[in-house]
Amino acid sequence: MLDKVRDLHQEIEHYTINSPEQLEQFRMRFISRKGVITELFEGLKIVPQADRRAVGQELNGLKNFAQERFETFTQQIDEQRTAADSAPPVDLTLPTIPNLTGTQHPLSLVRQRIIQIFERIGFNVADGPEIESDWYNFGALNFPENHPARDMQDTFFVAKVENGAPADMLLRTHTSNVQIRLMERQKPPIRSIMPGRVYRNETISARAHCMFHQVEGIYIDRNVGFKDLKDTLYHFVKEMFEPGTQIRFRPSYFPFTEPSAEIDISCQICGGKGCNICKHSGWVEIAGSGMVDPQVIANCGIDPEEYTGFAFGMGIERITQLKYVVNDLRLYTENDVRFLQQFEGL
Ligand code: DAH
Repeated sequence: MLDKVRDLHQEIEHYTINSPEQLEQFRMRFISRKGVITELFEGLKIVPQADRRAVGQELNGLKNFAQERFETFTQQIDEQRTAADSAPPVDLTLPTIPNLTGTQHPLSLVRQRIIQIFERIGFNVADGPEIESDWYNFGALNFPENHPARDMQDTFFVAKVENGAPADMLLRTHTSNVQIRLMERQKPPIRSIMPGRVYRNETISARAHCMFHQVEGIYIDRNVGFKDLKDTLYHFVKEMFEPGTQIRFRPSYFPFTEPSAEIDISCQICGGKGCNICKHSGWVEIAGSGMVDPQVIANCGIDPEEYTGFAFGMGIERITQLKYVVNDLRLYTENDVRFLQQFEGL
């Protein structure tokens, strides 16, 4: 019995209370008529007569201690309550704190839209490395040794030492490297688009950046012809831009396609009348394209006698500029929320 009294004494000593509910729990356990202390008093009857007095005294001591603690705790909770009551009232007429959710970056929006358009006509999405060898970025794509695009002024070279000799590693200047990687590892039919980052050693300005995004496309199979290229890109322009947008193919040159064409669309800003964006021509270029050069197909171990194909490449920043009239390339990377918030909900 005395042990029990001591244990309860200790329990009360270490008791802490932070809420009216805890205060009530304390009362039920130690103070109330159904509590543990009353129970012990009832047990007093069976304590031998000789000890009863001493045990009774201990028990009374415990009862008083519990009562004292209860009063202190009650006071403490009362104080907490008055403090809360005297806090300034909540003004329910105040406007709520806005719940700011992020917005999709315009380049992500346009990339997703491009992917969606091509996926619906049977293209899948492929990926390739941004740090690339000279062979995949240039050599396999028929760039001659002395082609100006390999020049230090355009390409970021990455020093990498292999067997003691510096290897020609670089940051890819276009996504065309993925064409080569795909054709190397996959048998035709190949029908893929390849979005990704590219790098060029340019001074950053409103019109140029050292990092930007492209989407490459390639279709290799038996009997793929220039008409397929045209159909595919007409479809893309129709889906991507305003109804009535004009499209034209302009003969051009790329080392890895023959014949090659650049694709222009009627200026989205002035509707073809002429403005700063289209340099008063009414047309803006959106992509390069062409029939993949048989030599490039052969470079990847595919028989160009059996398979032909087309490829194209476009800049995501350029498409976004035309779609959303963004006239300074730097806006894409500055993370200014005033710019980014304009794309909310798109
Ligand atoms: N790689 C070219 C560039 O960066 C774009 C390009 C042109 C890609 C023609 C192609 C193509 O696949 O067929 O300017």
